[in-house]
Amino acid sequence: MENWFKNWFSSEEYLSVYQHRDDDDATKLLELILRQTKLIKQNSILDAACGAGRHSIYLASRGFKVIGFDLSKTLLLKAQDNAKKKSLENNFVCADLRNIYFRKKFDLIINLFTSFGYFKNNEENFKFINTAYSLLNENGFYVLDYLNKNFLLANLTGESKKVIDNKIIIEKRKVVKDRVIKEIHIKKDLEEQHFIESVRLYSKNEIETEFKRIGFTRVSAFGDYDGSNYDEQNSSRLILFFKK
Ligand SMILES: C[S@@+](CC[C@H](N)C(=O)[O-])C[C@H]1O[C@@H](n2cnc3c(N)ncnc32)[C@H](O)[C@@H]1O
Repeated sequence: MENWFKNWFSSEEYLSVYQHRDDDDATKLLELILRQTKLIKQNSILDAACGAGRHSIYLASRGFKVIGFDLSKTLLLKAQDNAKKKSLENNFVCADLRNIYFRKKFDLIINLFTSFGYFKNNEENFKFINTAYSLLNENGFYVLDYLNKNFLLANLTGESKKVIDNKIIIEKRKVVKDRVIKEIHIKKDLEEQHFIESVRLYSKNEIETEFKRIGFTRVSAFGDYDGSNYDEQNSSRLILFFKK
């Protein structure tokens, strides 16, 4: 259970369960990020927990220098394939958020689509935020795209079912202590697979307090990829922009 993220994200199934998290979804959020940060092509970007590289690849196609890292070799292979298809550089590396170091510095670090809160305690969850602070140039940005705790608690769907590529996918969600736990059951013909997601629920205030302690200043907060203002009860996402 503690290492749920290794099993789930290295399975071939993750991308089909989340196939709505596609290039259009990535582009929308990146347009918001580029509008806010006003980066220029010479700036360098680190995509932390880049998955199959949908954000890194869009940014690279726009001419930015991007490095993406992730723990899942399955997803990194997809990222490399996707970059190759678009004749973009392969700048993807395998690394753990809790144990990563680069010699170079970045102007923007992104951590998108709830790639935060996976570990067993605050120390591990915020470890990368400390690292990121030291990896940023002065005035560099850190963008966190995370769930909105209050909205999630008020709108949690206990169980849902969908069919993708002839696979029946049943997702069961519950809140246990301070985490949201999702069981994912995937049935195809006679075969059945089970996975778990377990994400620590942090409020905006908890996150901001910890980032501030590390040295960051919060510069803006949005509640969705369109750039609506963040509302604690009604926003589907919590998108925070911090500056070093
Ligand atoms: C929900 S996915 C998001 C991926 C990508 N940011 C996107 O939006 O498509 C979470 C990602 O975090 C990665 N991840 C999980 N634990 C990690 C760790 N300890 N170190 C680095 N990456 C990790 C997973 O492999 C997965 O690619």
